Amino acid sequence: MEISTLVITVAALAAIAWLAFLVANSMRGRGKEEVAPNLAPGITDDTLESKRLDKTLASAVVLSGILALSLPIYFVGEQSRQDGFVEEFDQVALERGAHLYGEFQCGNCHGVDGGGGVASYVDKRSGISVAWSAPAINTVFYRYTPEEVRFWLVYGRANSPMPAWGLAGGGPLNDQQIDELMEYLQSADFLLPQDDALLLIEPSVNQALSRLETADTVMTDAITAQNDLVEAIQAAPGQVERAEALAARAAQALKEAGEGIDVDGDGLADRIEQELTAIFAEAGDALGDPALVVVLNPEAAQTGAGEADLDLAHRAVAALETVAAKLRVTADNQEKLLSQALAGVAFLEQAQQDKKWEIDIAAVADATFSGDREAADRAVGLFNAYCARCHTAGYSAGIPQTLSVGSGALGPALWNGRPNVQFLSAPDMVTFITKGSENGVAYGVNGVGSGRMPAFGPVLAIEDLELVVQYLRGDTLTGD
Ligand code: HEC
Ligand code: HEC
Repeated sequence: MEISTLVITVAALAAIAWLAFLVANSMRGRGKEEVAPNLAPGITDDTLESKRLDKTLASAVVLSGILALSLPIYFVGEQSRQDGFVEEFDQVALERGAHLYGEFQCGNCHGVDGGGGVASYVDKRSGISVAWSAPAINTVFYRYTPEEVRFWLVYGRANSPMPAWGLAGGGPLNDQQIDELMEYLQSADFLLPQDDALLLIEPSVNQALSRLETADTVMTDAITAQNDLVEAIQAAPGQVERAEALAARAAQALKEAGEGIDVDGDGLADRIEQELTAIFAEAGDALGDPALVVVLNPEAAQTGAGEADLDLAHRAVAALETVAAKLRVTADNQEKLLSQALAGVAFLEQAQQDKKWEIDIAAVADATFSGDREAADRAVGLFNAYCARCHTAGYSAGIPQTLSVGSGALGPALWNGRPNVQFLSAPDMVTFITKGSENGVAYGVNGVGSGRMPAFGPVLAIEDLELVVQYLRGDTLTGD
């Protein structure tokens, strides 16, 4: 037991005892008052100055002593008690923050550990469904001040998959919950140690460079997938009735699951297992979707591994019903969907023809880095890994870029010598990128910050910042 708790307990017991004494005393005196007290003769000094008075006075002195001692003792513990409350409060906020991170599924897009991920999104320019890159947020507090992070949380990022979370932005979380979320994102439980963040530079640069190398193949695959989508939309009206009929038959069979001989005792009669297997085979064939084919063995309660046949049957029927429902929607909206999908094909084909993502690194090396190919590689990789998501339109959508590097997106365009207009010298520009922008604070020659340009000092080496600046100040980002 802590000393302060002890003191409080003793004080409480004393108070209770005192009250009990008072009550008992007043009860004892009742009914005896025959003469009004003001008319009764006074009590003599002899009666008053008895042993009892001495005792009462003595106990009063002892009680005052205890009180005088216990107050300082209580006071001594006060600081640590206060600290304890603050710590407990922080701990609770942290736990709530972690809970909110899970409940609102930040991890679905940003990764469970906040290391980055993707979100499905319909790209505004192409109308195509893409996997939009969601940045790492376990380093976000190195790049932004807490107020800036709060802004993104409350208002989200319009024109991207990042939703608004704060009430002010139309989201579900109140101020306190945003605080708790921030508390968690900044805590050692979540935040990546800065040394580890620096270790990410190398792999990020390599990933950005290999993305450039495989871009053509990725585009070819994307066009194939988009053409498959067109074909599927065209085929939908011819398939939908068949699919609905098969789904209805399967659902009916499932309803009769318990009727008949059931050799393996799995809750599905033998004839039903056979019928469902036949329906699934027919559906897979007719709808050209091998995933619909499911086999149920009437002689084994568990045909597949780890799942009872009855569950498997329910799941497969539900899948078939979903396919039928989707085909219905597609068939009913065929014209609109087809024109969208065809526009997507045209967009991708144009993008592949233009190859705006391409960067002639050898030319960058010659023009800007006195032929140093290694420096050019690194500069190009750094820009694409750390800057392109805000400074090159459509970069987060994947390869189908219709505008070239530095075209501008959330951040301004950086091509055609813009950085040389904004910053008179390379060191000025390095300083800006190191610290990022601040809301309402001037930067460069004629810039006014909004706080949206992150600070890269804490996550990139100074040599890397200088390389990127050199690259941007060279005249190879021309938009051609
Ligand atoms: C549907 C996907 C999705 C969900 C869910 C989501 N985000 Fe985001 N978030 C994104 C994307 C995408 C971006 C980057 C947008 C862009 O391309 O500029 C982003 C940006 C951010 C940023 C700014 C980071 C930076 O460096 O620019 C923060 C901070 C953030 N999200 C935190 C959260 C938190 C916390 C949650 C959960 C409450 C959350 N996000 C949920 C997709 C999502
Ligand atoms: C999260 C988005 C984002 C990222 C990532 C980002 N920027 Fe920016 N950048 C901006 C915004 C927004 C501005 C405009 C200033 C403002 O609004 O505060 C800006 C401004 C700039 C400017 C000044 C442009 C001008 O003409 O005024 C330069 C130069 C720049 N960024 C370079 C970079 C470099 C280099 C990187 C990568 C190391 C980078 N940025 C990464 C958003 C971003």
